[in-house]
Amino acid sequence: MRTQVVIIGAGPSGLLLGHKLRQEGIACIVLERQTGPYVLSRIRAGVLEQVTVGLMEQLGLDARMKAEGLPHDGFNLADGERLIRIDIKGLTGKEVMVYGQTELTRDLMEACGSRDLEVVYEAADVALHDIESDAPYVTYTKDGVEQRIDARFIVGCDGFHGPSRKAIPESVGRGFERVYPFGWLGILADVPPCNHELIYANHERGFALASMRSQTRSRYYIDVPLTEKIEDWSDDRVWDELAIRLGPDAAAHITRGPSLEKSIAPLRSYVFEPMRHGSLLLCGDAAHIVPPTGAKGLNLAASDVHYAAEAMLGFFKANDNDAIAGYSAKALARVWKSERFSWTLTKLMHRFPEDGPFERRMQLAELDYIASSEAAQRSIAENYVGLPV
Ligand code: FAD
Ligand code: DHB
Repeated sequence: MRTQVVIIGAGPSGLLLGHKLRQEGIACIVLERQTGPYVLSRIRAGVLEQVTVGLMEQLGLDARMKAEGLPHDGFNLADGERLIRIDIKGLTGKEVMVYGQTELTRDLMEACGSRDLEVVYEAADVALHDIESDAPYVTYTKDGVEQRIDARFIVGCDGFHGPSRKAIPESVGRGFERVYPFGWLGILADVPPCNHELIYANHERGFALASMRSQTRSRYYIDVPLTEKIEDWSDDRVWDELAIRLGPDAAAHITRGPSLEKSIAPLRSYVFEPMRHGSLLLCGDAAHIVPPTGAKGLNLAASDVHYAAEAMLGFFKANDNDAIAGYSAKALARVWKSERFSWTLTKLMHRFPEDGPFERRMQLAELDYIASSEAAQRSIAENYVGLPV
């Protein structure tokens, strides 16, 4: 079989890119290792920047997001006692959209039929071949039968553990990594949120985040050492810890309920350079990971898709080879800025094992400075709503 672009991975980046290419009349096919329901069962991001909302608008797939998503014009940092509100709308004129990654993925998945986007689920043993040539191809196994698809480009949207990045020879690529000594324990519950805006808290006992999916569904996180096991965290223990870390005002409004989902995700900063080699482009978590503190991962995947689609359009519609050559540098410029913001906010809001009383005082002084400085708040707001693409 032959197509113009093979996309590996049907997470948000693969589906966004697939829809974008089909909208422009470019032939493509998406290969996904898992089943559709499995992809939808992964509870992840909740905060969308304008770049992600804008892509859904361009695709004409924004109706449910506009109806059910919650536009937020501010969020809060907490230092264990008080809330420091960051007025993102007042400081930047922009807002963010609280809408779950699961819902966004569902909207993209459900539109595949009507938009003529073919996704092969349960594609096993996906392997990339001849990526340094102009005629790369992908092999995979479906229902026990080996298949081959020839294409002009392969786009790796297969997350951090997928095969695409690993297909780039070590001699031409380099990864930059920072692994953090803690993970985020997340809990999802059908209870009203404790606050109408998000709260990121740095308490003596550690980090906590109060987020939401709707007026009746809450998402909370606390940081825990990587040695912790989820079985040791009963729902009650999580709620008790959240009530302490979020501070008395928020705690007074926490409604407890049984967890619909509870899991621990490790934190990592990672960037792979370059994001293109030969006829292979990387998008999203396949090329980079940010710690979730800045809510940037999914949004970076969306900005990569924006640049990758632009490059493909340049190549297929305007015979512009430079468009492909420029992809990596364009995408990486924005990636590194988001990495910086996510790392800075992670350092500000978490207790690291090596930190002593001095580092704690530094965090509190910085939070106090942010509380008193519009310039500091503006810088945080500008990054949180997302830098321009
Ligand atoms: P993925 O979502 O990982 O999708 C990759 C796809 O490729 C998967 O479906 C996978 O099954 C498939 N795949 C893998 N290997 C193969 C293979 N061999 N063959 C075929 N297919 C394969 N981001 C934000 O912007 N805001 C947030 O608020 C936020 N919160 C987060 C909270 C948590 C707890 C976590 C874990 C992440 C959070 N993120 C957030 C990050 C965000 O979820 C990711 O950045 C996003 O999922 C990246 O999308 P992707 O499509 O690039 O990768
Ligand atoms: C959520 C996740 C994040 O990483 C974040 O910074 C904000 C919200 C969430 O899942 O709701």
